[in-house]
Amino acid sequence: MDQAATLRKRMEQRFSQTLPLSHKKAKTIAVMSGKGGVGKSNLSLNMALALIEKGKKVLLIDLDVGMGNIDILIGHQSIYTMMDVLNQKMPFHRVLSTGPKGIQYISGGTGLNTMFELSKEKWRFFLEELSAVLKDYDFVILDMGAGLSKDQLPFALSADEILIVTTPEPTSIMDAYSAIKHLALNGQELKLKVIVNRCTNQKDGISTFSRLSHTVNSFLQQELVYAGPIPEDSSVSKAVVEQQPFLLKNPRSKLSRSVYLLADSLLKTNKQKVEDKPTFIEKLSSFLRRGNPT
Ligand SMILES: Nc1ncnc2c1ncn2[C@@H]1O[C@H](COP(=O)(O)OP(=O)(O)OP(=O)(O)O)[C@@H](O)[C@H]1O
Ligand SMILES: [Mg+2]
Repeated sequence: MDQAATLRKRMEQRFSQTLPLSHKKAKTIAVMSGKGGVGKSNLSLNMALALIEKGKKVLLIDLDVGMGNIDILIGHQSIYTMMDVLNQKMPFHRVLSTGPKGIQYISGGTGLNTMFELSKEKWRFFLEELSAVLKDYDFVILDMGAGLSKDQLPFALSADEILIVTTPEPTSIMDAYSAIKHLALNGQELKLKVIVNRCTNQKDGISTFSRLSHTVNSFLQQELVYAGPIPEDSSVSKAVVEQQPFLLKNPRSKLSRSVYLLADSLLKTNKQKVEDKPTFIEKLSSFLRRGNPT
């Protein structure tokens, strides 16, 4: 047995005393940003739909708990939401909603509760539920709130991949840098990809990525991967008003094609070997035991 496998075995023995482990199989992707309103929820939803069209089983979790809007984008009112899992210990299967193309998602809910200050017992319940659910999907997409709250940080740091959404605006790039700094100070071996949303052309995307990447490389010694540009398109806000995902309304538009390309890139990296790395649940559990990062 090589060193990594021995380490993994040891970790499994340690964790198995507290949680059932999820060995397979979902790839977890956290979609986050520094600045709010840059397109995370629209991209999470439409990217999830693109993956479903490519034959994958996808669960979309609205982690913008209390402020979630996936329900609104789909034009559906979920009876139960993530707030019920976290506050009432309601099982995942009861809070799952189904949207267009059969997409399964868990709504973040709306209300006063902004995010969760979980007790250990509630965390444990949540992780057990999540662990069981991960086996049933190829991808779990986590739509995060803007910035990174103390409670959200462990999710981002534990995800297999982090997609950072920025727009070409300097304020958005600056806030993306701050969010990446926060991640880099708390995490290791992060896989960070950057989507530049609302681009007027390809050059816009590349120059925005270069600016961000250069600053991150110089000051944080962290590598970023360019996940591609998404064009500025008024059909996004129309789709929001009509409560119908743009990918379904116009699958051939430049906008939709850019989302399909993004989905393709996620599929490619999904094939890479990750067996010897701690899983999403193992990492989240370890945050639980150590206490949240700050
Ligand atoms: N590619 C685009 N072209 C034009 N407008 C866009 C595009 N992407 C997003 N928008 C606009 O930005 C708005 C906000 O998008 P969205 O709700 O997905 O952002 P968010 O990052 O999830 O916001 P929050 O931080 O509040 O969760 C949309 O309603 C739409 O009007
Ligand atoms: Mg959002």
